[in-house]
Amino acid sequence: MLLMQWQWEPWLLACIAAAAAPYAAGMLRMGARRGQILGRWRAISFFAGLLVLVLALMSPLDAMADDLFSAHMLQHMLLLLVIPPMLVYGRPVITWLWAFDIGPRRAIVRGWKRAKLEAVFDFLMRPLCVWTLLTAALCYWHLPGPYDAAVRHEWLHDLEHLSFLAFSLAFWTIVIEPYGRRRALGYGATVVFVVSSGFVMALVGAILTFATTPLYAVHLHTTQAYGLTPLQDQQLAGIIMWIPSNLVHVAALSVVFFAWFRADDRRARERTAPVPARAISRTAVHSLLVLPVLAVLLGGCGHRPSPEQQEADRGARLIERYGCGSCHMIPGINGADGLVGPPLTHWGRRTYIAGVMPNDPANLAFWVQHPQKVVPGVAMPEMGIKDHEAQAIAAYLDTLR
Ligand code: HEC
Repeated sequence: MLLMQWQWEPWLLACIAAAAAPYAAGMLRMGARRGQILGRWRAISFFAGLLVLVLALMSPLDAMADDLFSAHMLQHMLLLLVIPPMLVYGRPVITWLWAFDIGPRRAIVRGWKRAKLEAVFDFLMRPLCVWTLLTAALCYWHLPGPYDAAVRHEWLHDLEHLSFLAFSLAFWTIVIEPYGRRRALGYGATVVFVVSSGFVMALVGAILTFATTPLYAVHLHTTQAYGLTPLQDQQLAGIIMWIPSNLVHVAALSVVFFAWFRADDRRARERTAPVPARAISRTAVHSLLVLPVLAVLLGGCGHRPSPEQQEADRGARLIERYGCGSCHMIPGINGADGLVGPPLTHWGRRTYIAGVMPNDPANLAFWVQHPQKVVPGVAMPEMGIKDHEAQAIAAYLDTLR
C-alpha cells in the first residue's frame, strides 16, 4: 500500500523536463565534439542526478517522510549530498547554452552581462556566502519549530527542499568546478570549506542521536505504524545525518586531495623543467669537448630559457605573424589592440573559450585552428594554423595571468 505510493507532482516533473530537454538538445548540437566538451561520464552523471531527484521527491520515500523523521532525513541527505554533485559534474550551464544556435547563445550571454546579473551572481557565489547560507539553512530547518511547520505546510516544505538544493548546488559548484588552475578556491581552502561544513552537519547529527527526548511534535504519533518509537526514529535520523554524510565528505576530500597533489606535481615539474635525458648526455659530451672554447666565447652568458618558455615565445611570434592582434587586444604582442574579438587579457585565468568550451590548452589549440567548427559562423576565421603552431599559441596565451 504505502510502498506503492508514488506521488507525481506535475510542476516538479515539468521542472525536471525543462532541465533535461535542453541538456539533451545541447548534447546533440555538440555532435562530434561532445567527447571533448562534455564526456560520457558527465552526461551520465547529470541524468542520474535527475533520476535520484525523482526518487527522492516522488517515490514512496516522500510519503514515508511525512511520518518518519529518519525517512525525511534520508531525503534531505539526497538533496544535500548526492544530487547536487551529480548535477554539477554534468556541467549543465554550458550544455544548456549549447542547446541554442550561436546567435541566441551569444544574445543570452550578452543579456546576462548587460543585466548586471553577473555581479549579483558573483557575490552570491562567494565561498563565504555560500558556506554561510548552506549551514544556516541546514541548522534552521532542523530546529524543532521550523521543522514542524515545514511538515505541516506544503509550501514551507517545498521552500525547505528548494533551499537545500539551491545552496548545495552552489556549494558543490565551488568544490567541483572548474578543476585545474582556474578554481574559485585553492585546493587547501577547498579542504577547509568541505571539512567545516561536514563538521556542522555531523554536529547536528550527533545532537539528534544523543538527545534523550523526542524533539519534533509532528512525529510523536506517526512513527508507531513502522514499529519505531519517536525517539528511536530520531536517533536513526541522527545517525543517517552523521555517518553517511561524513562518508560523502571524506570521498569529496579524497578527490580534492588527489587533484591538489596532481596540480602541485605539475607545478613542480614546470618549475624544474627537466631537460630530456638524451639531451642531457649529448649536452654533457658537447660541453666537455667545447668547454674551453665556450667558456671564452660565451663567458657569463645567461642561462637558456626553459622549453616551456621557448614554446611560449614561439607562440608569441606566431600570434604576431598570423595577425591575431588585428582583432584582439593581447598583452605582450606589438600592435595587438584589435577590438573585433574580445580582449585576451588574463587569458590564463579564463574558464571558458567563447563561452562554449572549457578553457584548457588542448581545447584552446583546437579553437585557434578551427573556430568555425566550434561556433559555426563566428567572425574569427580559420587561418590554416598547424597543430604545433596552435599548441605554441595556446602555450603563450596560457602565460597571460
Ligand atoms: C577577424 C578577426 C579575428 C582574428 C584575426 C582572430 N580572432 Fe579570435 N576571435 C574573434 C572573435 C569575433 C571572437 C569571439 C568569438 C565568440 O565569442 O563567439 C574570437 C574569439 C577568440 C578567442 C576566445 C575569446 C573568449 O573570450 O572566449 C580566442 C582565445 C581567440 N579568439 C584567439 C585568437 C588567436 C590566437 C588568433 C590568431 C591566431 C585570433 N583569435 C584571430 C575574431 C578574430
